[in-house]
Amino acid sequence: MLDVQGLKVNYGAIHAVRGVDFNVQDDEIVTLIGANGAGKSTIVHTLSGMLKAAAGTIKYGDQDLTKMSAAKIVGAGIAQVPEGRRIFAGLSTMENLKMGAYLVPRNEQSDVLANVFDQFPVLKERKNQDAATLSGGEQQMLAMGRALMAQPKLLMLDEPSMGLAPIYISKIFDIIKTINKQGVTVLLIEQNALQALQIANRGYVIANGTVQLTGTGSELLANPEVQKAYLGG
Ligand SMILES: Nc1ncnc2c1ncn2[C@@H]1O[C@H](COP(=O)(O)OP(=O)(O)OP(=O)(O)O)[C@@H](O)[C@H]1O
Ligand SMILES: [Mg+2]
Repeated sequence: MLDVQGLKVNYGAIHAVRGVDFNVQDDEIVTLIGANGAGKSTIVHTLSGMLKAAAGTIKYGDQDLTKMSAAKIVGAGIAQVPEGRRIFAGLSTMENLKMGAYLVPRNEQSDVLANVFDQFPVLKERKNQDAATLSGGEQQMLAMGRALMAQPKLLMLDEPSMGLAPIYISKIFDIIKTINKQGVTVLLIEQNALQALQIANRGYVIANGTVQLTGTGSELLANPEVQKAYLGG
């Protein structure tokens, strides 16, 4: 469904992404792993239309996303859970969720909200609470819930486990699996390579703005180079 070819992205003179090819098929979980500064977030921001490619193409089904606006990309069925969650402080949990649903017709919003509350019961309990007062794990769930409010076909998550306590980390990975089983294709960016590769159908190792290695989740888990560099030996 998503096919990225020869993608290059620059920040001025900095070549952050230097010719990346990868694809995500319907119903897969695909993970991009790699060290700090490898270019993972830059790739996600380019897919979501926040950054523009310097070269290459991004195809999604029969649509060309390469020059599409961020709003149209959301409309095409792609939602992003940004690195660092980016919830709106000063707004309640409910108001944050509604921000995710701006393209969903009003008469469908309550069904979508009910689904999100089924997935994340704690958000229902905390619906009137200022989002800034939620715990880190709850804020991550809110960021995921907000993205799901757009009813995406492809959900991109940028480091959802970052900074979370172990109990929340396994919960977040379980929820990603559940969302995927419900028919949402997932592109998962993670530094937690072990957990990401355990739930992924396939993965790509990103290093210095290029794809260093690719394979199924289990192939990459068994790969000595991956074990040495990303799985603590
Ligand atoms: N706004 C920016 N301006 C200039 N350079 C940037 C900017 N954002 C990122 N970079 C640079 O681009 C490269 C890729 O960064 P990116 O954030 O995509 O990496 P990442 O793989 O997501 O890393 P992390 O795991 O730390 O989130 C890095 O060298 C980074 O310093
Ligand atoms: Mg990043």
